[in-house]
Amino acid sequence: MGNRLAGKVAAITGGSQGIGLAIAQRFAEEGADVSFCYRSNKAGADEAVTNIANTGRKVAGFQYDVSSVNDGQKFVADTAAQFGKIDILVNNAGLERRADFWDATEADFDAVLNVNLKGLFFITQAFVKHRMAVKAGGKIINISSVHEELPFPHFASYCASKGGVKMLTRNLSIELAPLGITINSIAPGAIETPINKNLLNDPAKLSALLENIPLKRLGTPDDVASMAVFLGSEESNYATGTTFFLDGGLTWNYQEQ
Ligand code: BGC
Repeated sequence: MGNRLAGKVAAITGGSQGIGLAIAQRFAEEGADVSFCYRSNKAGADEAVTNIANTGRKVAGFQYDVSSVNDGQKFVADTAAQFGKIDILVNNAGLERRADFWDATEADFDAVLNVNLKGLFFITQAFVKHRMAVKAGGKIINISSVHEELPFPHFASYCASKGGVKMLTRNLSIELAPLGITINSIAPGAIETPINKNLLNDPAKLSALLENIPLKRLGTPDDVASMAVFLGSEESNYATGTTFFLDGGLTWNYQEQ
């Protein structure tokens, strides 16, 4: 338990599992009140609410689908109404769909882009309008991926969405600076979460991936939460428009055999 986020209210998308869940829990342990939304994992959301409440912090879990602009706006409005304000927005919700490029469907493209990029865009807009209305700065943290930079064959829509998040982060850092709002991304590599369940259940693929990770292990949601605490706290005040890679060395591990 610490107090690096004491007095802050955080809104986190995708808080019922994986990285979002770890961030929600750690933020509360650092003194923040926590609101999160989730799409379908009600059991995970209920458990998160119980665990976060045990830290003594205020918590709410809202069932909203961030691929709907209207739902995203309601998440921001409900949180601000119930908690009085939002200081930190964590755009964590994300998904990926695997397909050879020539087989990718419009439905899969839309599912990925609508959550990872469009949803993030409009929730961020709603958060910025909220901070403008209360005349205060704030912090935005996007959970991007190493694949905002690194190709990921068979995941073209995912890469397109994360490349979009990279440029949105850079662009908004300029536009939001006069408002006292910073925006940064975290680019996790391979983290043990539900998004990776196929990989985690395939020993051959998993050991091939571990070969490419210099630190020789997958990351944990808590590894990502540590960086998120830093970016949500005053310690990161001078950081904006940048991406913090958290990948055990994966991104730059090209070796000539
Ligand atoms: C993807 C995972 C992948 C990892 C490393 C993440 O962004 O969601 O599926 O294993 O990057 O390639």
